[in-house]
Amino acid sequence: MAASAPLHAFSLRESEGIAELVLDVPGEKLNILHAAVMEELAEILAGLTGRSDIRCLMLRSGKPGTFIAGADIKEIEAIREPLEAEEKSRSGQDLFNLLEDLPFPSLAVVDGPALGGGLELALACTYRLVSDNPKTQIGVPETGLGIVPGFGGTYRLPRVVGLTEALRMILSGRPVDGPRAARIGLADACYPAAFLQDKASAFAARIASGSVPPRRRRRGALRTFLMERNPLGRALVLRAARRDVLARGGKHYPALLETLSLLRKTFRAPRQRALLLERRALGKTASTRVCRNLIGLFFAREAARHVPAPAGQSREGKTAQGAAVIGAGVMGGKIAWLFASHGISAGMKDVSWDAVQKGFASAYQTYQELARRGRLDRRKINLGMHRLSGSIDYASLGKPDVVIEAVVEDMSVKKKVLAEVEKAAAPDALLASNTSSLSITEMAGALARPERFVGMHFFNPPSIMPLVEIIPGARTGPDAVARATRLALDLGKTPVVVKDCPGFLVNRLLMPYLNESVSLVEEGADFRTVDRVLEEFGMPMGPFVLLDEIGLDVADHVARILVGAFADRMAPGALMGQVSASGLLGKKSGKGFYVHGKSAKPGARPRANPDIWKLLPRPANARMIRRLDMMHRPLLAMLNEAARALEEGVVASARELDLALVLGTGFPPFRGGLLRWAEDELGVGTARDMLELYTRTVGKRFTPAPLIIRLAAQSKGFTPGAAA
Ligand code: NAI
Repeated sequence: MAASAPLHAFSLRESEGIAELVLDVPGEKLNILHAAVMEELAEILAGLTGRSDIRCLMLRSGKPGTFIAGADIKEIEAIREPLEAEEKSRSGQDLFNLLEDLPFPSLAVVDGPALGGGLELALACTYRLVSDNPKTQIGVPETGLGIVPGFGGTYRLPRVVGLTEALRMILSGRPVDGPRAARIGLADACYPAAFLQDKASAFAARIASGSVPPRRRRRGALRTFLMERNPLGRALVLRAARRDVLARGGKHYPALLETLSLLRKTFRAPRQRALLLERRALGKTASTRVCRNLIGLFFAREAARHVPAPAGQSREGKTAQGAAVIGAGVMGGKIAWLFASHGISAGMKDVSWDAVQKGFASAYQTYQELARRGRLDRRKINLGMHRLSGSIDYASLGKPDVVIEAVVEDMSVKKKVLAEVEKAAAPDALLASNTSSLSITEMAGALARPERFVGMHFFNPPSIMPLVEIIPGARTGPDAVARATRLALDLGKTPVVVKDCPGFLVNRLLMPYLNESVSLVEEGADFRTVDRVLEEFGMPMGPFVLLDEIGLDVADHVARILVGAFADRMAPGALMGQVSASGLLGKKSGKGFYVHGKSAKPGARPRANPDIWKLLPRPANARMIRRLDMMHRPLLAMLNEAARALEEGVVASARELDLALVLGTGFPPFRGGLLRWAEDELGVGTARDMLELYTRTVGKRFTPAPLIIRLAAQSKGFTPGAAA
């Protein structure tokens, strides 16, 4: 590496045998372990190694509320060859070995995120103290980027927290907070953030005086220890983890399987061998297409987060202190929950107390589901429920900063409600509609001040779905767009701004995919096979399971709205209407293409509904439909529509379109999104040829979009600079 000007990311102070090393990367909001930062640390540690007067090294961040956010992902993205990744890994491993091998104990003081390389650095310290600050999130998110941790994390983490917990953290990528870090033995103690520094200084003084405090025993550590110490127990733990990975589609993610095989080989291996195998595993995973795709999505998500703050508001400030949700139905109750669970009080207004009560019930049910999965305790549920209120008049809502309209999907009802809301709300309140298909511009016609009105399309269920489409109408002001975008971020969602057109972006692309799946069945394909083929492609659920989830009536209704705008490209097969007309509405009625019931095991494939067979057509000229066509027809129908939407400017870029589809429909992240799949795996030229073939053999709806024809002729991809 070429020598560069010193970065001065670290400052070192020494007093009474304690060296305090503070990391504060200049000019950056977060501490990132760029190559230059690591070089500087290596120099400092090399200087400390020979010092016999130091009795403890304390390492902390100079940026309040943040420790180290990880290695530089741009440097990982630039990797093309396995050997490059191995080299990068080796330099991190050597550095942290130096830290681990210091002749005196070291102490990491963690207040704020300690992720990836940040945690790996803390793991190389002898002790770790953490804060209970909610921002203290400690984890190894690497597998989410398609790689294994490569700075010694796979060697040290299992030795500190045990194999089971290490597998859970690495495979899920989910961080733990301060209190949990202390419970699982990852941290030696957790303190309130305000006292952390004092406690750390006292702790360091105790180390320096030689009264090294004993390590705390982990809860359940004995059982885990006995299980993991013998080869049979370890094999059981690893087999269970593998089963779990495969059940969650893990075969598409090489880093997950690589982690399992790595930990099997290295759990009891000496450091040198374990680190060698870790380097090789990083080399293997960092140069894969899956890694490139996941990193591409990471940057798209980061870009969506970096939006300018609305006028008069700092980037850190919250957009809303109080909210109102009009309509406490399926969506209203859950949107109110979303506000409450992010510390924002929310009032629900509906036409009757019965309806309001349903909104409360739906919010409570969402809390219960999270509690069942162990993500919440009773105190947090009570606090959250106390932030909710209900009413059947506007006056009781007070003057919230934001009002979300979530009444029935009917233009005249929405206009009437919005006109009432405008009169009742404060003049500077943000007004938003959660419509999934109606025109924001037309709705704004009911308002005297349409510039503060915008579409905010939350997906169902808002507790899980990470996307919010932000839809400016023709007269929406830029400040309303900025506020809605910030609000979505405050609520933990990823906003994508889309144009006000029927179906907006995600539903517009989803509909041709669902319609084409139905057409396949009308031509004689078995719906269960179509589902399996697309799940095999990586979709989280097949199109018929999805139709049952959405509701056949709702899907048919949305398809008909879209036909009005896009004609035959969106025409639903007659089957969709027939199934819904016979009362088989899907999950909500207990039966659709499948039978749904409480007795079904969670995650188990539902059973085909015996009543469905008599509704399915038996075409006289039924022909064998190839599995490849079952996969390609729905996907190409969606791709063709995506190309049109992109060319019409419904969304600003191919990357944002891909991000929206991944977050809004669960399109397989390992494929990087629909357009990325088309340009990188299928090839735009092949896509055009297949569309032309289907136009001749299946129907005109497959006529290739002009953008696809143009890009194919120029051998270009959808992303600027991408060849296809
Ligand atoms: P819903 O039918 O479950 O609830 C609508 C609620 O609005 C009912 O409680 C009704 O009593 C209430 N309402 C009707 N007129 C009202 C008025 N004048 N004042 C106050 N409340 C009134 O409908 P859902 O499914 O919650 O949909 C609401 C909105 O959310 C629609 O625009 C829909 O397109 C959109 N949406 C729905 C999704 C879904 O999966 N259900 C997903 C995303 C958006």
